[in-house]
Amino acid sequence: MNETFLKACRGEKTDYTPVWIMRQAGRYLPEYQKVRSQVDFITLCKTPEIAAEVTLQPVDILGVDAAILFSDILIPVEPMGMKLEFSESKGPVLQDPIRSAAAVSRLRDLRAGDDVPFIADTVKMLVARLKVPLIGFSGAPFTLATYMIEGGSSKNFINTKRMMYGAPELFALLMDKITVTVIKYLQAQKDAGVHALQIFDSWAGVLSPVDFDRFALPSMQKIISVFKGKIPLIYFAFNGSAMLRRVVNAGADVIGLDWRIDMKDAVAALENNVAIQGNLDPCILFGGVDLIRDRVGQILNGAIGAKGHIFNLGHGILPETPVDNAIAMVDAVHELSSRAKTN
Ligand code: CP3
Repeated sequence: MNETFLKACRGEKTDYTPVWIMRQAGRYLPEYQKVRSQVDFITLCKTPEIAAEVTLQPVDILGVDAAILFSDILIPVEPMGMKLEFSESKGPVLQDPIRSAAAVSRLRDLRAGDDVPFIADTVKMLVARLKVPLIGFSGAPFTLATYMIEGGSSKNFINTKRMMYGAPELFALLMDKITVTVIKYLQAQKDAGVHALQIFDSWAGVLSPVDFDRFALPSMQKIISVFKGKIPLIYFAFNGSAMLRRVVNAGADVIGLDWRIDMKDAVAALENNVAIQGNLDPCILFGGVDLIRDRVGQILNGAIGAKGHIFNLGHGILPETPVDNAIAMVDAVHELSSRAKTN
């Protein structure tokens, strides 16, 4: 197996900078759309043969250095007792949002073997076939709590913050329940054979730094302490650049960055304590190949001196992205980083 990605996670020297793309299996790929035209998204996530097939697509098409399990951060929320749907217009919808003590007390813990057997089955199928590492993942408790309290995506997160500020003990209880499920969900992926774990905290950036410390960080520390030293852990707190030191306090081996911070500044702020993943603006892939190569080069240069660097976009690849430009990005990372390292 090509271990370049895992070496970078561990902060070891690599021959070139490894690259993968958040949401690399998805609607920008015609091959994915063909599979999706036959089956709805949730069924796709729950059917190992086709979930494995779409996981492999970007590895073959783009030549990335890691695969990420095809699933969704909301899959473990359903077995906790909420009905999940994906609507074309609204994105994820969770019925009967959690807004009361009674609703929190009704939630139950995930039983991974019974509730999400397809996760282990898909992982086992993939590790037998892949020549690059497989990343397992989960949503972070705070991000999952926002979906459960709001009932879907949100603009101002008023219901979440109302519970945080108005009923902090209830919010803490909800976070504890989610944390138990996240640990079980990640453990099931690790037991089935994934090589690394990423935790997506897509909405951490709606919190002030003080509230991040109080409401989001403790559960992240709890999760990471369970897996630390046993498997590489990546923590991606989207929009977290203004509180990087706090994000590092969660204890992950790798910090995912969005594009709102200069790579050089991030490397300086992190003082070589952790490896870095990121951070090209996904919209650069709508520019030309010259622009892509130029910006890739800039990020690679900025990351010189980092404890380890895994190239990625600063958020998920967008459905409208031209596939050829994603390929051009991967090629540029490989070419420019191996040239820099042999010079
Ligand atoms: O990265 C990968 O390729 C692995 C698969 C993956 C998906 N979602 C597939 C998906 C991963 C890691 C996720 C994570 C995820 N899901 C996050 C965290 C990352 C982020 O973007 O901040 C979040 C917030 C979700 C919740 C979610 N899932 C939303 C808001 C939506 C609808 C909007 C959208 O982007 O489509 C989804 C649906 C979803 N998840 C799709 C895919 C491929 C599109 C489903 C389709 O085919 O219609």
